[in-house]
Amino acid sequence: MTEYTALWVDRTEITKTRQVSMPIGPVAAGQILVDIDKFGLTANNVSYAVTGDSIGYWQFYPAEENWGIVPVWGCGTVIESNCDEIPVGERLWGYFPMASHAVLTPGRIHSDYFMDVIEHRRELPLIYNQFRRTRAEPAFIQAMETERCLLFPLFMTSYLIYDYLIDNDFFGAQQVVIGSVSSKTGFGLAQMLRGDSSLSQSVIGVTSQANVRFVEGLGCCDQIVVYQTEHEIDASLPTAYVDMSGDARLTISLHNHLGDNMVESCMVGASHWQEGGKVGELPGARPRFFFAPGQIEKRNKEWGPGVAMVRAMTASAEVAAKVSADIDIQWVEGVESLAEHWAQLLDNKISPSTGLMVRL
Ligand SMILES: NC(=O)c1ccc[n+]([C@@H]2O[C@H](COP(=O)([O-])OP(=O)(O)OC[C@H]3O[C@@H](n4cnc5c(N)ncnc54)[C@H](OP(=O)(O)O)[C@@H]3O)[C@@H](O)[C@H]2O)c1
Repeated sequence: MTEYTALWVDRTEITKTRQVSMPIGPVAAGQILVDIDKFGLTANNVSYAVTGDSIGYWQFYPAEENWGIVPVWGCGTVIESNCDEIPVGERLWGYFPMASHAVLTPGRIHSDYFMDVIEHRRELPLIYNQFRRTRAEPAFIQAMETERCLLFPLFMTSYLIYDYLIDNDFFGAQQVVIGSVSSKTGFGLAQMLRGDSSLSQSVIGVTSQANVRFVEGLGCCDQIVVYQTEHEIDASLPTAYVDMSGDARLTISLHNHLGDNMVESCMVGASHWQEGGKVGELPGARPRFFFAPGQIEKRNKEWGPGVAMVRAMTASAEVAAKVSADIDIQWVEGVESLAEHWAQLLDNKISPSTGLMVRL
C-alpha cells in the first residue's frame, strides 16, 4: 500500500479546500500507479476549477460528494505496474491530479505515448488523456521538465492562438490587444507575435499597474495599457482582441471604444475569475471562445496528426528559453503549503515573475 495525499477543492466554492490522505494500491490488472513528483500551478488551474462543471474538468479525476480534484500538468514515475508494456521506472508527462499519485489505465500504447482509456474519460478531449513517455523524446526536451510542467501547456496555447490569428489573416487586424498580458499564456502570445518578423501587427498588452514593470522587462509589447485606461488604444485601427482575463468590464470597455474596428474578439481565459459575467450585445465582432484542442484538431486534419503539437512544443521551448531569466521558480512542498498557495493564487497574490512548482 502507498500513502496518497491530495488537495481537494469544493466544486461550488473553490476557496474551500480539504487535505486528503489515504492508502492506495495495489493496482488492478492493466493499471499503473504513478508517483507524481512535480507539477506547475498557475491561473490556468484556477480556470479548470471555475469551469469544472461547465467544461467538465472535474471529470478527469473524480473525488467524492461536493469535492473535486483540479487537474495539473506534471511529471511522474511509474512505481507499480500491472500493465506489461509500461514498466516500473517509466517517466511520464501529462495531465495529472493535484495529488501525490495517480492510477492510470494505459491503452493505445505507442513508443512515445499512451492514452488513459479508463471508462469515465472516454468522452473527454483526447489531448488531456494522452501521457507522454518522455524517455522516448529528445534529450533537450527531457531536460526541460520544469518548463514543461509550468510553461509549455500555456505557451502551446499561445502558439495555437498565434497560429489561429495567422490562419485567419488576423481578420484584417493591424493590431492585437492582449488582455491580462502578464499571464504566461498572454506574454507567450506576445513573444511569438513580436518574434515573427514576417508580421506587421503591433502588440498591445493590457495589465494591472502592479505588473507593468514585469511586462516591460519582457520586451514583447509595442504598447502597455493599464486597466481602466483602455481609451489610450488607437481606435482608428482594425483590432483583434485576445482575452486571458475573462473580465466582463474590460471586454465591454474595449468593444465600446473600438466599435466596428473590433474585428475579432477571442475569449481564451478567465484569470480575473471573480470578474466574469454577461457582456450583452456589443459593437464589433461577437466575442467567441477559443478552445486550444479545437485548433489542434483542425491542424491535425490539415497538417497531419501530431504536427501542430510538435510545432507548438518547439515554439514553447524557444519562448521558455527567452524568458527563463524573468521567472523565478518557487517550490511548494507538501499539501499544507499547497493549500496556502492555492488561496494566494485565487487572491491574485502570486507575482507573474514567480513560477510555482509543487511537490507533495
Ligand atoms: N482556452 C484555453 O485553451 C486555455 C489554455 C491555456 C490557458 N488558458 C487561460 O489563460 C488564462 C491565463 O492562464 P496562465 O496560467 O497563463 O496565468 P498566469 O501566468 O498564472 O497569470 C498570472 C496573471 O493573471 C492575472 N491574475 C492571476 N490571478 C488573478 C486573480 N485572482 N485576479 C486577477 N488577476 C489575476 C494577473 O495578470 P494581469 O494583472 O496582467 O491581469 C497575473 O499576473 C487562464 O484563465 C487560463 O485558463 C486558456
